[in-house]
Amino acid sequence: MRSLLLLLLTALSMTSCPQVKQEVQNLHPLFNISEKELMESISDLPAATRDKIAAKAQIFLDLILQLMESPEDLLILVDKEHTLEKQYVPPDLINLQGYSLSLAGNKLELRRMIIPDLLAMVESSREQGIELVISSTYRSYSRQELIYNYNVQSLGREIADRESAKPGHSQHQLGTTIDFGSIDDSFASHPAGIWLAEHGWQFGFSLSYPPDSEKITGYRYEPWHYRYIGRHGARITREFFLNQQQYFLEFWKRKSSFFQKKRVR
Ligand code: DAL
Ligand code: ZN
Repeated sequence: MRSLLLLLLTALSMTSCPQVKQEVQNLHPLFNISEKELMESISDLPAATRDKIAAKAQIFLDLILQLMESPEDLLILVDKEHTLEKQYVPPDLINLQGYSLSLAGNKLELRRMIIPDLLAMVESSREQGIELVISSTYRSYSRQELIYNYNVQSLGREIADRESAKPGHSQHQLGTTIDFGSIDDSFASHPAGIWLAEHGWQFGFSLSYPPDSEKITGYRYEPWHYRYIGRHGARITREFFLNQQQYFLEFWKRKSSFFQKKRVR
């Protein structure tokens, strides 16, 4: 009888202790975030994404934690609404000559920080008999201006705007984006295009403009255009954001500081 009373008192004191209550409610040991708060923070995302996050909240928050360790400029949103300044040049650009890569030109440059994952990806594709040809990489603001103006002249503005970014709006200015192979629709059914669509994410490379997504991305399907967003970014995009890089990068722009504040210090 006495021990039953003791048990009852202990249980009562635990429920009235806010510290214990807080711990029980948190979804992840490294975030001060309850299920309710997490669901509120993602209420503007597509229903399918919300369901996936609700079902695997721990894994989602693990990935968020990893993303917080990424270099700040890796996940910048650059799209039809969000620009890079004319003067923006990535800090660690290097020429790709001298690496074991198949290059379609001799002035191809990328950020140094993506080279290890690029080399790992190329090595893995070669093991499976696939050769990834790198056709276009970093483009300066003025180079993009030339390309865009040329496309407007040759295709008309309406078509040009579906496949060519205005200067300041191209992911190529980030120095983390690669166009592979033929840079045309045939790449979707080329072995290298098929391989990249299946395995690119494992090395941090994410297809920026997927099929049937023009309403989301603003651009028609570009099976050749991959942006490096890191292995965790590419995984979260695939597992939670319906393989829409646009959804993930918009979410990260809106919510990264929220998760930063919720992190256990
Ligand atoms: N083709 C993509 C949209 C670019 O010009 O960056
Ligand atoms: Zn491209």
